[in-house]
Amino acid sequence: MRFPPGFLWGTAAAAHQVEGGNTNCDSWLLEHVDGTIYAEPSGDACDHYRRYAEDIALLAALGFNAYRFSIEWARIEPEQGEFSIAQLEHYRRMLAACHEHGLKAVVTMHHFTSPRWIAARGGWESPETAKLFARYCERAVDHLGDLVDTACTLNELNLGILFQQQGFIYSDEEILATPWRAAAARALGTDAENFSSFPFCVRSRSRDVLLEAHRLGAQALRAGPGKFPVGMTLALRDLHAAAGGEQVRDRIRFEAEDIFLQAARADDFVGVQYYTAQRIGPDGPLPPGPGAEFTQMGYEFWPDGLETTIRYASAKAQVPVIVTENGVATEDDSRRVAYVERALAGLARCLGDGIDVRGYFYWSMLDNFEWLYGYGPKFGLVAVDRKTQRRTVKPSAAWLGRLASTSEI
Ligand code: BGC
Repeated sequence: MRFPPGFLWGTAAAAHQVEGGNTNCDSWLLEHVDGTIYAEPSGDACDHYRRYAEDIALLAALGFNAYRFSIEWARIEPEQGEFSIAQLEHYRRMLAACHEHGLKAVVTMHHFTSPRWIAARGGWESPETAKLFARYCERAVDHLGDLVDTACTLNELNLGILFQQQGFIYSDEEILATPWRAAAARALGTDAENFSSFPFCVRSRSRDVLLEAHRLGAQALRAGPGKFPVGMTLALRDLHAAAGGEQVRDRIRFEAEDIFLQAARADDFVGVQYYTAQRIGPDGPLPPGPGAEFTQMGYEFWPDGLETTIRYASAKAQVPVIVTENGVATEDDSRRVAYVERALAGLARCLGDGIDVRGYFYWSMLDNFEWLYGYGPKFGLVAVDRKTQRRTVKPSAAWLGRLASTSEI
Protein backbone atom coordinates (compact mmCIF):
# COMPACT_ATOMS: atom_id res chain seq x y z
CA MET A 1 0.00 0.00 0.00
CA ARG A 2 1.14 3.49 -0.84
CA PHE A 3 0.99 6.02 2.01
CA PRO A 4 -0.62 9.42 1.34
CA PRO A 5 1.57 12.21 -0.08
CA GLY A 6 3.22 14.25 2.67
CA PHE A 7 3.02 11.38 5.17
CA LEU A 8 5.66 12.01 7.86
CA TRP A 9 8.22 9.24 8.32
CA GLY A 10 10.50 10.02 11.20
CA THR A 11 12.07 9.12 14.48
CA ALA A 12 11.40 10.74 17.86
CA ALA A 13 13.72 11.81 20.67
CA ALA A 14 13.63 13.83 23.90
CA ALA A 15 16.31 16.39 24.76
CA HIS A 16 17.29 14.89 28.10
CA GLN A 17 17.57 11.36 26.73
CA VAL A 18 20.09 12.26 24.02
CA GLU A 19 21.70 15.67 24.56
CA GLY A 20 23.98 15.02 27.54
CA GLY A 21 25.00 17.35 30.35
CA ASN A 22 21.46 18.60 30.98
CA THR A 23 22.41 19.55 34.51
CA ASN A 24 19.83 22.26 35.25
CA CYS A 25 16.74 20.05 35.03
CA ASP A 26 14.92 18.12 37.73
CA SER A 27 15.73 14.72 36.24
CA TRP A 28 19.49 15.32 36.57
CA LEU A 29 18.92 16.14 40.21
CA LEU A 30 16.81 13.02 40.79
CA GLU A 31 19.44 10.87 39.09
CA HIS A 32 22.00 12.02 41.66
CA VAL A 33 20.16 12.33 45.00
CA ASP A 34 20.67 9.88 47.86
CA GLY A 35 18.31 6.95 47.44
CA THR A 36 17.83 7.66 43.72
CA ILE A 37 15.54 5.24 41.89
CA TYR A 38 17.39 5.77 38.60
CA ALA A 39 19.59 2.85 37.51
CA GLU A 40 22.35 5.27 36.49
CA PRO A 41 22.78 8.95 35.65
CA SER A 42 22.23 10.30 32.14
CA GLY A 43 25.74 11.84 31.95
CA ASP A 44 26.79 12.58 28.40
CA ALA A 45 23.74 10.73 27.00
CA CYS A 46 24.36 10.53 23.23
CA ASP A 47 26.20 13.85 23.10
CA HIS A 48 23.49 14.92 20.67
CA TYR A 49 23.76 18.50 21.91
CA ARG A 50 27.07 18.65 20.05
CA ARG A 51 26.51 15.92 17.45
CA TYR A 52 23.02 16.90 16.27
CA ALA A 53 24.23 17.91 12.79
CA GLU A 54 25.68 14.51 11.98
CA ASP A 55 22.68 12.72 13.55
CA ILE A 56 20.23 14.77 11.49
CA ALA A 57 22.27 14.14 8.35
CA LEU A 58 22.25 10.41 9.09
CA LEU A 59 18.49 10.38 9.61
CA ALA A 60 17.96 12.03 6.24
CA ALA A 61 20.50 9.76 4.53
CA LEU A 62 18.63 6.72 5.85
CA GLY A 63 15.51 7.90 3.99
CA PHE A 64 13.36 9.61 6.64
CA ASN A 65 11.60 12.91 5.98
CA ALA A 66 10.91 14.15 9.53
CA TYR A 67 12.51 14.46 12.96
CA ARG A 68 10.64 14.88 16.23
CA PHE A 69 12.76 16.28 19.04
CA SER A 70 12.20 18.30 22.18
CA ILE A 71 13.67 21.60 23.23
CA GLU A 72 14.83 21.88 26.82
CA TRP A 73 13.03 24.37 29.03
CA ALA A 74 15.79 24.06 31.69
CA ARG A 75 18.32 25.36 29.18
CA ILE A 76 16.11 28.06 27.65
CA GLU A 77 14.87 29.48 30.97
CA PRO A 78 17.59 28.43 33.44
CA GLU A 79 16.21 30.69 36.18
CA GLN A 80 12.68 32.02 36.42
CA GLY A 81 12.20 34.85 33.92
CA GLU A 82 15.78 34.62 32.60
CA PHE A 83 15.78 33.49 28.97
CA SER A 84 18.92 32.34 27.18
CA ILE A 85 19.21 33.61 23.62
CA ALA A 86 22.31 31.42 23.15
CA GLN A 87 20.26 28.29 23.92
CA LEU A 88 17.40 29.39 21.68
CA GLU A 89 20.00 29.89 18.95
CA HIS A 90 21.19 26.32 19.50
CA TYR A 91 17.69 25.01 18.79
CA ARG A 92 17.42 27.37 15.81
CA ARG A 93 20.53 25.74 14.38
CA MET A 94 18.96 22.30 14.93
CA LEU A 95 15.81 23.38 13.11
CA ALA A 96 17.88 24.85 10.28
CA ALA A 97 19.80 21.56 10.02
CA CYS A 98 16.51 19.67 9.64
CA HIS A 99 15.43 21.94 6.80
CA GLU A 100 18.84 21.76 5.15
CA HIS A 101 18.42 17.98 4.98
CA GLY A 102 14.81 18.04 3.85
CA LEU A 103 13.37 16.92 7.19
CA LYS A 104 10.15 18.34 8.63
CA ALA A 105 10.76 19.50 12.19
CA VAL A 106 8.28 18.32 14.82
CA VAL A 107 9.13 20.12 18.04
CA THR A 108 8.02 19.10 21.53
CA MET A 109 8.07 21.95 24.05
CA HIS A 110 8.25 19.70 27.11
CA HIS A 111 9.31 16.08 27.27
CA PHE A 112 9.30 15.03 30.96
CA THR A 113 12.10 17.34 32.21
CA SER A 114 11.54 20.76 33.80
CA PRO A 115 13.87 23.44 35.12
CA ARG A 116 14.83 22.85 38.75
CA TRP A 117 13.14 26.10 39.76
CA ILE A 118 9.82 24.77 38.44
CA ALA A 119 10.21 21.52 40.41
CA ALA A 120 10.96 23.56 43.54
CA ARG A 121 7.76 25.57 43.29
CA GLY A 122 5.29 22.75 43.10
CA GLY A 123 6.01 21.64 39.52
CA TRP A 124 3.01 20.28 37.65
CA GLU A 125 0.96 20.19 40.81
CA SER A 126 0.95 23.98 41.05
CA PRO A 127 -1.59 25.95 38.95
CA GLU A 128 1.03 28.71 38.42
CA THR A 129 3.10 26.31 36.30
CA ALA A 130 0.53 26.40 33.48
CA LYS A 131 1.11 30.14 33.03
CA LEU A 132 4.88 29.82 33.38
CA PHE A 133 4.86 27.09 30.72
CA ALA A 134 2.83 29.31 28.40
CA ARG A 135 5.28 32.17 28.86
CA TYR A 136 8.18 29.84 27.98
CA CYS A 137 6.26 28.67 24.88
CA GLU A 138 5.69 32.28 23.89
CA ARG A 139 9.39 33.18 24.17
CA ALA A 140 10.51 30.01 22.39
CA VAL A 141 8.08 30.34 19.49
CA ASP A 142 8.98 33.96 19.08
CA HIS A 143 12.56 32.86 18.39
CA LEU A 144 11.92 29.59 16.57
CA GLY A 145 8.37 29.60 15.20
CA ASP A 146 9.25 30.40 11.58
CA LEU A 147 11.25 27.14 11.35
CA VAL A 148 8.76 24.82 13.12
CA ASP A 149 6.60 22.47 11.02
CA THR A 150 4.53 20.86 13.79
CA ALA A 151 4.50 21.44 17.55
CA CYS A 152 3.61 19.21 20.48
CA THR A 153 3.02 21.05 23.76
CA LEU A 154 3.63 18.43 26.45
CA ASN A 155 4.72 14.87 25.93
CA GLU A 156 2.37 12.31 27.46
CA LEU A 157 0.21 14.58 29.57
CA ASN A 158 -1.43 11.47 30.99
CA LEU A 159 1.73 9.70 32.18
CA GLY A 160 1.36 10.41 35.91
CA ILE A 161 -2.19 9.04 35.96
CA LEU A 162 -1.10 6.01 34.02
CA PHE A 163 1.75 5.25 36.44
CA GLN A 164 -0.61 5.66 39.33
CA GLN A 165 -3.13 3.24 37.81
CA GLN A 166 -0.46 0.65 37.15
CA GLY A 167 0.60 0.88 40.78
CA PHE A 168 3.93 1.31 39.02
CA ILE A 169 5.49 3.81 41.34
CA TYR A 170 3.80 5.18 44.43
CA SER A 171 0.54 6.45 45.78
CA ASP A 172 0.11 10.12 46.76
CA GLU A 173 1.13 9.50 50.37
CA GLU A 174 3.97 7.18 49.53
CA ILE A 175 5.54 9.53 46.99
CA LEU A 176 5.55 12.39 49.48
CA ALA A 177 7.37 10.15 51.92
CA THR A 178 10.07 8.83 49.56
CA PRO A 179 13.61 9.67 50.69
CA TRP A 180 14.59 10.80 47.19
CA ARG A 181 11.81 13.35 47.05
CA ALA A 182 12.90 14.77 50.41
CA ALA A 183 16.56 14.78 49.30
CA ALA A 184 15.72 16.57 46.03
CA ALA A 185 13.65 19.14 47.92
CA ARG A 186 16.49 19.70 50.40
CA ALA A 187 18.97 20.21 47.55
CA LEU A 188 16.69 22.94 46.19
CA GLY A 189 16.20 24.56 49.56
CA THR A 190 12.52 23.68 49.85
CA ASP A 191 10.49 20.94 51.57
CA ALA A 192 9.12 17.72 50.12
CA GLU A 193 5.62 19.18 50.02
CA ASN A 194 6.72 21.74 47.40
CA PHE A 195 8.90 19.50 45.23
CA SER A 196 7.29 17.86 42.22
CA SER A 197 8.66 16.36 39.02
CA PHE A 198 6.55 15.64 35.91
CA PRO A 199 6.74 11.81 35.70
CA PHE A 200 5.98 11.47 39.41
CA CYS A 201 3.21 13.98 39.80
CA VAL A 202 0.55 11.64 41.07
CA ARG A 203 -1.66 14.07 42.96
CA SER A 204 -5.03 14.39 41.31
CA ARG A 205 -4.83 18.19 40.91
CA SER A 206 -1.94 17.76 38.44
CA ARG A 207 -4.39 16.68 35.72
CA ASP A 208 -6.06 20.08 35.64
CA VAL A 209 -2.71 21.86 35.77
CA LEU A 210 -1.44 19.83 32.81
CA LEU A 211 -4.57 20.33 30.73
CA GLU A 212 -4.45 24.05 31.43
CA ALA A 213 -0.73 24.16 30.56
CA HIS A 214 -1.53 22.47 27.28
CA ARG A 215 -4.35 24.88 26.52
CA LEU A 216 -2.36 28.02 27.34
CA GLY A 217 0.81 26.65 25.73
CA ALA A 218 -1.05 25.86 22.49
CA GLN A 219 -2.57 29.33 22.51
CA ALA A 220 0.90 30.89 22.86
CA LEU A 221 2.30 28.73 20.07
CA ARG A 222 -0.53 29.70 17.71
CA ALA A 223 -0.05 33.39 18.45
CA GLY A 224 3.63 33.39 17.46
CA PRO A 225 5.34 33.46 14.06
CA GLY A 226 4.92 30.44 11.80
CA LYS A 227 1.69 28.64 11.02
CA PHE A 228 1.88 25.02 12.05
CA PRO A 229 -0.36 22.37 13.59
CA VAL A 230 -0.30 22.13 17.39
CA GLY A 231 -1.30 19.18 19.56
CA MET A 232 -0.52 17.10 22.64
CA THR A 233 0.90 13.59 22.77
CA LEU A 234 -0.58 10.82 24.90
CA ALA A 235 0.66 7.49 26.25
CA LEU A 236 -1.99 5.04 25.05
CA ARG A 237 -2.31 1.29 25.50
CA ASP A 238 -4.32 -1.45 23.90
CA LEU A 239 -6.59 -2.10 26.89
CA HIS A 240 -8.21 -5.53 27.10
CA ALA A 241 -10.73 -6.59 29.68
CA ALA A 242 -10.25 -10.06 31.12
CA ALA A 243 -13.48 -11.78 32.22
CA GLY A 244 -15.36 -9.49 34.58
CA GLY A 245 -12.92 -6.61 34.07
CA GLU A 246 -15.01 -4.59 31.61
CA GLN A 247 -16.17 -1.92 34.03
CA VAL A 248 -12.75 -1.43 35.58
CA ARG A 249 -11.20 -1.26 32.09
CA ASP A 250 -13.68 1.42 31.08
CA ARG A 251 -13.02 3.46 34.22
CA ILE A 252 -9.24 3.19 33.78
CA ARG A 253 -9.57 4.18 30.14
CA PHE A 254 -11.83 7.10 30.97
CA GLU A 255 -9.43 8.57 33.51
CA ALA A 256 -6.16 7.91 31.73
CA GLU A 257 -7.23 8.38 28.11
CA ASP A 258 -10.74 9.66 27.37
CA ILE A 259 -10.49 12.88 29.36
CA PHE A 260 -7.35 13.82 27.45
CA LEU A 261 -8.60 12.63 24.05
CA GLN A 262 -11.71 14.75 24.53
CA ALA A 263 -9.53 17.78 25.34
CA ALA A 264 -7.58 17.11 22.12
CA ARG A 265 -10.73 17.93 20.10
CA ALA A 266 -9.69 21.56 20.32
CA ASP A 267 -6.30 20.76 18.70
CA ASP A 268 -5.01 20.28 15.17
CA PHE A 269 -3.97 16.65 15.77
CA VAL A 270 -3.44 14.16 18.54
CA GLY A 271 -0.08 12.43 19.06
CA VAL A 272 -0.55 8.71 19.66
CA GLN A 273 2.29 6.98 21.54
CA TYR A 274 1.84 3.27 21.69
CA TYR A 275 4.12 0.53 23.01
CA THR A 276 2.10 -2.31 24.48
CA ALA A 277 -1.17 -3.87 25.59
CA GLN A 278 -2.62 -4.07 29.09
CA ARG A 279 -5.03 -6.70 30.41
CA ILE A 280 -7.42 -5.57 33.09
CA GLY A 281 -9.36 -7.77 35.46
CA PRO A 282 -12.01 -6.93 38.08
CA ASP A 283 -9.21 -5.87 40.48
CA GLY A 284 -7.19 -3.80 38.03
CA PRO A 285 -4.17 -4.37 35.76
CA LEU A 286 -3.10 -7.98 35.19
CA PRO A 287 0.19 -9.39 33.87
CA PRO A 288 0.24 -10.63 30.25
CA GLY A 289 -1.23 -14.07 29.65
CA PRO A 290 0.82 -17.28 29.28
CA GLY A 291 3.09 -17.48 26.24
CA ALA A 292 3.53 -13.71 25.93
CA GLU A 293 6.83 -12.44 24.53
CA PHE A 294 8.44 -9.69 26.62
CA THR A 295 10.49 -6.70 25.54
CA GLN A 296 13.49 -5.39 27.49
CA MET A 297 11.10 -3.03 29.28
CA GLY A 298 9.14 -6.01 30.57
CA TYR A 299 6.24 -5.03 28.28
CA GLU A 300 4.31 -7.54 26.24
CA PHE A 301 5.51 -7.58 22.61
CA TRP A 302 2.21 -6.54 21.04
CA PRO A 303 2.60 -4.34 17.95
CA ASP A 304 -0.92 -5.17 16.73
CA GLY A 305 -2.31 -2.85 19.38
CA LEU A 306 -1.15 0.21 17.46
CA GLU A 307 -4.07 -0.27 15.08
CA THR A 308 -6.66 -0.52 17.87
CA THR A 309 -5.14 2.49 19.57
CA ILE A 310 -5.18 4.68 16.46
CA ARG A 311 -8.81 3.75 15.82
CA TYR A 312 -9.77 4.53 19.40
CA ALA A 313 -7.86 7.84 19.56
CA SER A 314 -9.21 9.00 16.21
CA ALA A 315 -12.82 8.22 17.17
CA LYS A 316 -12.57 9.94 20.55
CA ALA A 317 -10.48 12.99 19.59
CA GLN A 318 -12.02 13.50 16.14
CA VAL A 319 -8.86 15.16 14.84
CA PRO A 320 -6.03 13.82 12.64
CA VAL A 321 -3.64 11.37 14.29
CA ILE A 322 0.14 11.43 14.20
CA VAL A 323 1.88 8.38 15.66
CA THR A 324 4.43 10.48 17.53
CA GLU A 325 6.04 7.41 19.15
CA ASN A 326 6.04 3.66 18.63
CA GLY A 327 8.89 1.28 19.19
CA VAL A 328 10.38 -1.65 21.01
CA ALA A 329 13.34 -2.21 23.32
CA THR A 330 15.24 -5.29 22.25
CA GLU A 331 18.81 -6.53 21.74
CA ASP A 332 17.50 -8.63 18.84
CA ASP A 333 17.19 -6.20 15.96
CA SER A 334 15.21 -8.68 13.87
CA ARG A 335 12.43 -8.50 16.51
CA ARG A 336 12.44 -4.72 16.02
CA VAL A 337 11.80 -5.18 12.31
CA ALA A 338 9.06 -7.72 13.10
CA TYR A 339 7.46 -5.30 15.59
CA VAL A 340 7.45 -2.29 13.27
CA GLU A 341 6.31 -4.36 10.29
CA ARG A 342 3.22 -5.52 12.21
CA ALA A 343 2.58 -2.07 13.67
CA LEU A 344 2.74 -0.46 10.22
CA ALA A 345 0.44 -3.09 8.73
CA GLY A 346 -2.14 -2.00 11.31
CA LEU A 347 -1.54 1.67 10.55
CA ALA A 348 -2.02 0.94 6.84
CA ARG A 349 -5.38 -0.73 7.59
CA CYS A 350 -6.45 2.42 9.44
CA LEU A 351 -5.50 4.54 6.41
CA GLY A 352 -7.34 2.10 4.17
CA ASP A 353 -10.48 2.69 6.24
CA GLY A 354 -10.17 6.43 5.74
CA ILE A 355 -8.71 7.34 9.16
CA ASP A 356 -6.62 10.48 8.88
CA VAL A 357 -3.15 9.42 10.05
CA ARG A 358 -0.48 11.95 9.14
CA GLY A 359 2.78 10.34 10.23
CA TYR A 360 4.74 7.61 11.97
CA PHE A 361 7.69 8.32 14.29
CA TYR A 362 9.76 5.39 15.48
CA TRP A 363 11.08 5.67 19.06
CA SER A 364 13.98 6.20 18.74
CA MET A 365 16.80 6.83 16.31
CA LEU A 366 19.55 6.28 18.90
CA ASP A 367 19.99 3.86 21.79
CA ASN A 368 19.51 6.46 24.51
CA PHE A 369 18.90 7.19 28.20
CA GLU A 370 15.76 5.31 29.14
CA TRP A 371 14.93 7.25 32.32
CA LEU A 372 14.73 4.97 35.40
CA TYR A 373 16.24 2.09 33.41
CA GLY A 374 19.36 3.99 32.35
CA TYR A 375 21.14 2.74 29.24
CA GLY A 376 19.94 -0.89 29.51
CA PRO A 377 16.98 -0.99 27.11
CA LYS A 378 17.86 -0.67 23.43
CA PHE A 379 15.12 1.12 21.50
CA GLY A 380 17.48 2.52 18.85
CA LEU A 381 17.67 1.97 15.13
CA VAL A 382 21.26 3.12 15.57
CA ALA A 383 23.59 1.83 18.31
CA VAL A 384 25.71 4.27 20.29
CA ASP A 385 29.04 3.20 21.79
CA ARG A 386 28.91 4.41 25.40
CA LYS A 387 32.64 5.22 25.46
CA THR A 388 33.35 6.63 22.01
CA GLN A 389 29.80 7.82 21.07
CA ARG A 390 30.33 6.08 17.74
CA ARG A 391 27.04 5.51 15.88
CA THR A 392 26.43 2.12 14.21
CA VAL A 393 23.45 1.73 11.93
CA LYS A 394 21.47 -1.42 12.72
CA PRO A 395 19.75 -3.41 9.94
CA SER A 396 16.37 -2.14 11.21
CA ALA A 397 17.43 1.45 10.43
CA ALA A 398 18.31 0.62 6.85
CA TRP A 399 15.07 -1.36 6.49
CA LEU A 400 12.77 1.32 7.92
CA GLY A 401 14.62 4.12 6.12
CA ARG A 402 14.14 2.34 2.77
CA LEU A 403 10.48 1.88 3.50
CA ALA A 404 10.17 5.53 4.50
CA SER A 405 11.78 6.70 1.28
CA THR A 406 9.39 4.67 -0.88
CA SER A 407 6.43 5.43 1.43
CA GLU A 408 4.99 2.07 0.55
CA ILE A 409 4.53 -1.17 2.49
C1 BGC B 1 8.44 8.36 26.34
C2 BGC B 1 9.91 8.23 26.03
C3 BGC B 1 10.42 6.86 26.46
C4 BGC B 1 9.64 5.82 25.71
C5 BGC B 1 10.10 4.40 25.93
C6 BGC B 1 7.64 7.11 26.05
O1 BGC B 1 6.65 6.97 27.02
O2 BGC B 1 7.89 9.47 25.70
O3 BGC B 1 10.60 9.28 26.64
O4 BGC B 1 11.79 6.72 26.29
O5 BGC B 1 8.29 5.91 26.10
O6 BGC B 1 9.88 3.96 27.22
